[in-house]
Amino acid sequence: MTNQVVKVEHVEKIYGKKNENQSIALKDISFSMAEGEFIGIMGPSGSGKTTLLNVLSTLDRPTNGEISIAGRDITQMKNNELADFRANSLGFIFQDFNLLENLTLYENIALPLSLQDVKAKKIKERVETVAKQLGIQDILMKFPAEVSGGQKQRTAAARALVHEPAIILGDEPTGALDSKNAQGLLEAMTELNREQDVSILMVTHDPQSASYCERILFIQDGILYKELKRTGERKAFYQEILDVLATLGADQDGE
Ligand SMILES: Nc1ncnc2c1ncn2[C@@H]1O[C@H](COP(=O)(O)OP(=O)(O)OP(=O)(O)O)[C@@H](O)[C@H]1O
Ligand SMILES: [Mg+2]
Repeated sequence: MTNQVVKVEHVEKIYGKKNENQSIALKDISFSMAEGEFIGIMGPSGSGKTTLLNVLSTLDRPTNGEISIAGRDITQMKNNELADFRANSLGFIFQDFNLLENLTLYENIALPLSLQDVKAKKIKERVETVAKQLGIQDILMKFPAEVSGGQKQRTAAARALVHEPAIILGDEPTGALDSKNAQGLLEAMTELNREQDVSILMVTHDPQSASYCERILFIQDGILYKELKRTGERKAFYQEILDVLATLGADQDGE
């Protein structure tokens, strides 16, 4: 039996207090993710994708429902427990890289471990291993301003991986990249997923990026509208994704 890395049960998220203007971002979302899966979340603007990612990444709390990650119920955790959980078990890749400009790529990648008081020797081993996996081992002494967008995003991916999190979460990780760099990053992520069994969940509005996933969850108006599993070639999957997006009336070029 495969282990579940994520279990989401009847999650609801309402923004705003009672008696105020409330907005229901997530109505009733349930799904689970097996260890080693590569899942994409798609849906029109305002459908709740970022909200879903934020409650999964413990940056925000759902109004109702339960979420377990790596066997731990995060909806029951106190804030200080959440901070530790986030630091140890989750890895993030954001659209705008979020690298620190005054640190070298090496230091940026090492950050999650430096914050955890890991020994320098162990840090060096881990940074070199993940940098190699992402093909940036030769530019580690450079600063973010000295490398390309694609290399920055590979650095961000290496940083997300360095502490061996249970899952990597991404909100539009390819959003700021041109198509060639986006493809390079997605190929690297696919390799990590296939060869190291890294679990990845990413939000994307780009059907090309989504076609690298094994499974896509489409959300619309805060509910799961449809699920698509990849069964064959990526090109055929890309077409299937376009077909679903057409029924959703989504803006395929983004906003
Ligand atoms: N902090 C907030 N306060 C109030 N309403 C919010 C807040 N954040 C999001 N919303 C509302 O919740 C709904 C879902 O927003 P969310 O950001 O999750 O959408 P999204 O699918 O990520 O959209 P996009 O593709 O544009 O990034 C929207 O109606 C939005 O206006
Ligand atoms: Mg969003």
